[in-house]
Amino acid sequence: MVEIVETSETDAISIEEFCDEYRAQGLSSASPEGLKECAPLLRRLSNNKRLVVDHIRDALMQPIDARTRSVYSAQAMIMYRQNGIYLRCAVWPGVEGDLYGVSSNRAFTYEFPHDHNFDFLTIGHLGPGYETTCYEYDYDVVDGYVGEQVDLKPLGRFRLNLDETHLYRGHRTIHVQHPPQSTSVSLNLMGTGIISAHTDQYIFDPSMQHISEVATPNGLVHLLAIYTATEHVESSLDMIDTIATNHPNGQVRAAAVRAIQGIACSPDIKESIYLRAMARGNPLVKRAAQTALNSLASQ
Ligand SMILES: [Fe+2]
Repeated sequence: MVEIVETSETDAISIEEFCDEYRAQGLSSASPEGLKECAPLLRRLSNNKRLVVDHIRDALMQPIDARTRSVYSAQAMIMYRQNGIYLRCAVWPGVEGDLYGVSSNRAFTYEFPHDHNFDFLTIGHLGPGYETTCYEYDYDVVDGYVGEQVDLKPLGRFRLNLDETHLYRGHRTIHVQHPPQSTSVSLNLMGTGIISAHTDQYIFDPSMQHISEVATPNGLVHLLAIYTATEHVESSLDMIDTIATNHPNGQVRAAAVRAIQGIACSPDIKESIYLRAMARGNPLVKRAAQTALNSLASQ
């Protein structure tokens, strides 16, 4: 089942008090266990029922540039992000409200099975709370390509009830959000561990038990394609080969292997790079290298 962290605190605090207590207690958001220890403090913050509405009012009163920085999607707002503390809120339009009718499911991540490449602790702050269908999987045995079969273990359907706290583990919990009856707000303490730096988030198709999309393609994948579309000279080869060999993200290494196809250099040099990638790459890199070798052989 989804991981519920029990809390019973009844007093209400501000974000400033949250930060002071967080530091005084020596808390850390860098691991799932650390986040669990933060649950009583997050409950006290969430007991402050003016928190989000006052934050929204302040955002609306800011100059346009500042407002845009804190409201980074239709759904989520950064409440605070400094010195290892990252608080976010998420709005969940209810089926009874106008906002739900005019928005797409995708805008509010409804009916959208996904994991996260970070841990987070979430609490029902306002409203009845969304419902969520959860699964578990093992990120470490997944290569990460679209269509790849993944063993999704069903955990059941749950509601993030008002004042209830759930822990979501990065690269493990998959959830499908369903709209609440009326608009609800959750408050999240985001994990600050390093797992998200070079790892991927996926969209799944539970009925097919496979990955249907890579949700957070590394920006370098696109930069490589854009760069080599214009700078396809041999002098770019060393840099791209270094990325193909050393980058910690397999999607990026595979993209670099594909980018080498566009570089103007001898087929022998390309072949040696592809064979090297085949020899020690992960399956994503091997697939890219094999495709490139096939293409080279057919020229
Ligand atoms: Fe999510």
